Amino acid sequence: MPNVVVVGTQWGDEGKGRVVDLIAEKVDLVVRYQGGNNAGHTIVTNGKSIVLHHLPSGILRDDKVSLIGNGVVIDPKILLEEIEALKKSGYSVSPDNLIISDKVHVIMPYHKMIDISRENLAGNNKIGTTGRGIGPVYEDKYGRRGIKLSDLVNPDTFSKRLKTVLNERNLYLTKVLGSGPVDFDEVYNEYTQYGKELKPYMGDVSKILFDSINSDKDILFEGAQGTLLDIDFGTYPYVTSSNAGSGGVCVGTGVAPKSIDYVVGVTKAYTTRVGEGPFPSEETGEIEQRLREEGGEYGATTGRSRRCGWLDVVALKYAIRVNGISAFALTKLDVLSGFDTVKICTAYKCNGSLINEFPGSTEVLENCKPVYEEMDGWSEELTDIKDFDELPENAKKFILRVEELTGVPTWLVSIGPSREMYFELRELYS
Ligand code: IMP
Repeated sequence: MPNVVVVGTQWGDEGKGRVVDLIAEKVDLVVRYQGGNNAGHTIVTNGKSIVLHHLPSGILRDDKVSLIGNGVVIDPKILLEEIEALKKSGYSVSPDNLIISDKVHVIMPYHKMIDISRENLAGNNKIGTTGRGIGPVYEDKYGRRGIKLSDLVNPDTFSKRLKTVLNERNLYLTKVLGSGPVDFDEVYNEYTQYGKELKPYMGDVSKILFDSINSDKDILFEGAQGTLLDIDFGTYPYVTSSNAGSGGVCVGTGVAPKSIDYVVGVTKAYTTRVGEGPFPSEETGEIEQRLREEGGEYGATTGRSRRCGWLDVVALKYAIRVNGISAFALTKLDVLSGFDTVKICTAYKCNGSLINEFPGSTEVLENCKPVYEEMDGWSEELTDIKDFDELPENAKKFILRVEELTGVPTWLVSIGPSREMYFELRELYS
């Protein structure tokens, strides 16, 4: 069986967690390759809602190995709490089924302080970050002043690194941002303890994946956020600070490009976005409110209301191109039940011209107005539907039209919040 990547094709929150959870059943290893606890995957299982922030969704299946690749950033306190919460809910989490790359970068208290202070200073120009320190920790990684898990678990190395970094970071915090400073002893004592607790989970993820590939094991690479939040291909600067697209897999886990065979693009039947930045098919008023309420569009991480609008095929075709999407998992189709008409954005009108390509410039995108194709809606509830043929005719037409506009087949359609509320149109990898 192939090695598969699951990516979000929109601005995150497409419902990747459940799709990953389903595919996880068919593979041996599940790997996260980027992002940190800015992500929040909600999985409803046995009537219980579980939110995963760092941990790959494979952790919910006892017989799978879950890995956190070097491209991920971890907040050790939150990660340890997440592990404890899962154990309390009866899931097994141990160094046998969870391996964290020695190369992951660690989110430190000053990263969170910098993130929040910067957003406050930016006022109307803020990005609307999750406030988890994600931008600052990736900055430190690329600025070569980061602290890796392999540093954290070694008290001497950690002490040296932290001293050097804090000298500079405290100057920045106090003189530029007017906050801090951060106390060395406090952070050192607290984080050394985290290092001790995480040490048993630390391993060489790239080597484990290499050996697994050579022994014909199957791997699922799990993306967080979405393509339009990707640091390179998203709506910069209103993006997260990692490569959320499939391109992030190789650098975020240490596998070779030839190891990736298949890419599932998780696409919500409408669009949502949290935080600031352009969103051409955004709705306001009654439609937005209805999508938000029906879809439960409130952030799993921050609880913020998500902005809502119609499906945007211009953006979707762009996501197909930059990720190499093989098939869709179309999620939350049930949320569109009850609309007299449903809309699909098929082009943009921008400064008097019609455009079909997602613009490279965020400024241009800000001036784009959606051009819609309107389709008749359906009133029936979808949650009990077991296959495509049982769908209302107009719901079938919606799916077929998305396939026609994009040229990408749909593998799976989700029709309700529970793990079992979905049906497949065709076999995965067919
Ligand atoms: P950061 O990742 O916290 O720096 O936030 C940057 C932008 O990405 C903000 O608009 C966030 O709302 C958005 N963002 C980050 N993680 C997620 C996610 O998991 N789902 C949706 N939006 C996210």
